[in-house]
Amino acid sequence: MKVAVLGAAGGIGQPLSLLLKNKLPAGSDLALYDVAPFTPGVAVDLSHIPSDVNVKGYTGDEGLAEAVKGASVVVIPAGVARKPGMDRSDLFKINAGIVKSLVEAVAKNAPEACIAIITNPVNTMVPLAAEVLKKAGIKDYARKLFGVTMLDTLRSETFWADVTGYSRGSVRIPVIGGHSGTTILPIFSQALGYDSVSAEEIEKLTKRVQNAGTEVVEAKAGAGSATLSMAAAGARFALAIVAGLQGVPGVVESAYVADEQGEYAPFFARQVLLGQNGVAGLKPVGKLSDYEKKCLDDMLPGLKKDIQLGVDFVNGNA
Ligand code: LMR
Repeated sequence: MKVAVLGAAGGIGQPLSLLLKNKLPAGSDLALYDVAPFTPGVAVDLSHIPSDVNVKGYTGDEGLAEAVKGASVVVIPAGVARKPGMDRSDLFKINAGIVKSLVEAVAKNAPEACIAIITNPVNTMVPLAAEVLKKAGIKDYARKLFGVTMLDTLRSETFWADVTGYSRGSVRIPVIGGHSGTTILPIFSQALGYDSVSAEEIEKLTKRVQNAGTEVVEAKAGAGSATLSMAAAGARFALAIVAGLQGVPGVVESAYVADEQGEYAPFFARQVLLGQNGVAGLKPVGKLSDYEKKCLDDMLPGLKKDIQLGVDFVNGNA
């Protein structure tokens, strides 16, 4: 199993690479790519950790091709982070070109790879990547392409445990929609202990999850956005993809994926069954409370606009 991290020398990329070095199955290869010239040095640094994962660092155009060649999973945290006062969509202009060229390199050198995109705005970057893959002739892109929304899950699970008194790590909360503002919708009505929490508290918690990225951006006061918790989220999701590829049964995590039936939107975050070819099935959203139904209805026009922007970028209309 080869896993490549593109943007491996950055604020998310380094801790993500560390987690993968420690947690990937024995015998895996971990390829680190970044435009930063010291990326091979990051790999040397990690190589001193005695886990049975072979790590190599790459930079430059040729390095990118080498890094992704033969990869089963490519995780992309590359790009710039937002500063206080910015929305995730403000990053689109800078990050779109970066993601487009990285996905083109994956399509060329590792057409079978599963691609997990962390780069914001995720709502737009994933449809953009899908267009790149379609243009490259990769027909089963819908089974291979993921937006990482796992940090919304981690936050929902942490905040829920704190309110209900369940131990952290023991609760599971599906999060649907997308990864920006009101498009992030934790489904607390399906969580353990739902009946013990007031409607007012649920609304407060939902808003906190939707605003949690901004909470970190403001706390870091200009030094960027979530890196460590995002690395934990990216690692949990990449390891779930790896487990699915290896044939572990019943691996289910929330992610933003293409929905060919388009029940809600052409791309939508929901619980996904991960299998030996990537997406093995989309879990139904299930029963929602009246509050969650309203949040879902309200978010869809904005989410669809975010998606269209990504499609238009690749087709020359944006
Ligand atoms: C997050 O959710 O923390 C990330 O998407 C980074 C951000 O800009 O909020």
